[in-house]
Amino acid sequence: MKRKITIAIDGFSSCGKSTMAKDLAKELGYIYVDSGAMYRTVTLYAMENDLISNGIINTEKLEAEMDNIHITFKFNDITKKPDTYLNGTYVEDKIRQMEVSNNVSPIAALGFVRKALVKMQQAMGKEKGIVMDGRDIGTVVFPDAELKIFVTASPDVRAQRRFDELTAKGDTVNYNEILENVKKRDYIDQNREESPLKQADDAIVLDNSEITIEEQRRWLINKALEVINR
Ligand code: DC
Repeated sequence: MKRKITIAIDGFSSCGKSTMAKDLAKELGYIYVDSGAMYRTVTLYAMENDLISNGIINTEKLEAEMDNIHITFKFNDITKKPDTYLNGTYVEDKIRQMEVSNNVSPIAALGFVRKALVKMQQAMGKEKGIVMDGRDIGTVVFPDAELKIFVTASPDVRAQRRFDELTAKGDTVNYNEILENVKKRDYIDQNREESPLKQADDAIVLDNSEITIEEQRRWLINKALEVINR
């Protein structure tokens, strides 16, 4: 039986991290966890409970309520992706909406939110055999991951991808607004005090601006097999 490893995929927003991480997990028969979905879910909870308005967060109340926020994933046989649930309620579509994207960065910058989610993420990876994507997976969540990938692509390419994704879902969105959101989140993600987005020293960089999903898929599976068979 082949040894199981931990795979950390970090990088900027809308780089296609989730797609690549999900496909890789499927090929290897590993668990896939989208850690961004967890930050989005806490954000949705804050929005639905009036704990954030105009970017101002009621941190005291949110911190007190962290124990009441239960995030789970259930594999969807139709979309072939895990769906996110908040306290047992399906929230997968809601957490992808622009309103959540616009509010998520300040929530993800809170130390107590990160601490709670990192603990949950580490528990999910206890048995290895996991692919997790996010911003701090190779640096904070699994610093000992056997394979770390840092994904990047130009802001325009990423904004176009998110625009296509939301348009395909039937949402009416504005490209420039998305581009601004991508740039703003890059800035906040890289400059926040708590676990800023940065490349782990031992991560392999993948710039996917100019390569196809299929090329990327093959490159990634080869890298993973190389490490697993080492
Ligand atoms: O990958 P995404 O766009 O769905 O992530 C949503 C937000 O959550 C993004 O602004 C960065 C934050 N995030 C984080 O701080 N740490 C992670 N491990 C994953 C996401």
